Amino acid sequence: MNRKKIRLGVLVSGSGSNLQSIIDHSEKDQLDARISIVISNNPDAYALERCRRHNIPAAVLDHRAFPERADFDRQMIEILHASGVDLVVMAGFMRILTPIFFRAFPMKIMNIHPALLPSFPGLHVQQKALDYGVKFSGCTVHFAEEGVDTGPVIIQAVVPVFEGDDEKILSERILKEEHRIYPQAIQYYAEGRLEIIGRTVRVKSSGKIEAASLVNPPVTIT
Ligand code: GRF
Repeated sequence: MNRKKIRLGVLVSGSGSNLQSIIDHSEKDQLDARISIVISNNPDAYALERCRRHNIPAAVLDHRAFPERADFDRQMIEILHASGVDLVVMAGFMRILTPIFFRAFPMKIMNIHPALLPSFPGLHVQQKALDYGVKFSGCTVHFAEEGVDTGPVIIQAVVPVFEGDDEKILSERILKEEHRIYPQAIQYYAEGRLEIIGRTVRVKSSGKIEAASLVNPPVTIT
């Protein structure tokens, strides 16, 4: 069934590997979504090169040109509304947004975080997980709201942490899962299957994983 595609506005600041995953899934027609506009606050973001290669409209809003955060947000809202965006996707976007922005897109903003929220909110979370000595980490896609990294969780992926892992190795292992779960979260949204009840997001008629437990390091006693 050829579903109507929702229009995405993707916010980036850096490499744009999550943007690339969304582009790839969209180009392979695996997403009922298409990218209407990409906005970067960083004129040098490699994500902009990805837009050029895929003929995706992009705007650069250098946050340093805006004396007030709210002014920056208002400009972003204007561009996103002009592009008819249905869902805002923060993909490696490193600016804190103001309440004005969240009010403009209530429960229509997603973010991806490279840890299992509510554990390890904030920055450098892969190193924080290593320093804490956790045996599992992972990534979270959530609806973004005024608190940082506090919105209702949509989907999470878990990865083991191994001896000898450093920040780079763990970040790469997590990033691989980010590139899987973000397009999935967008597709659930596009299909209208996300129901928010309080803090809980229910995915209507989604499959269920085996209730197998994951143990790291492995249990060897029987
Ligand atoms: C990713 O780990 C993402 O979770 C975090 O920024 C990192 C880089 O993202 N928000 P990308 O490669 O720019 O999409």
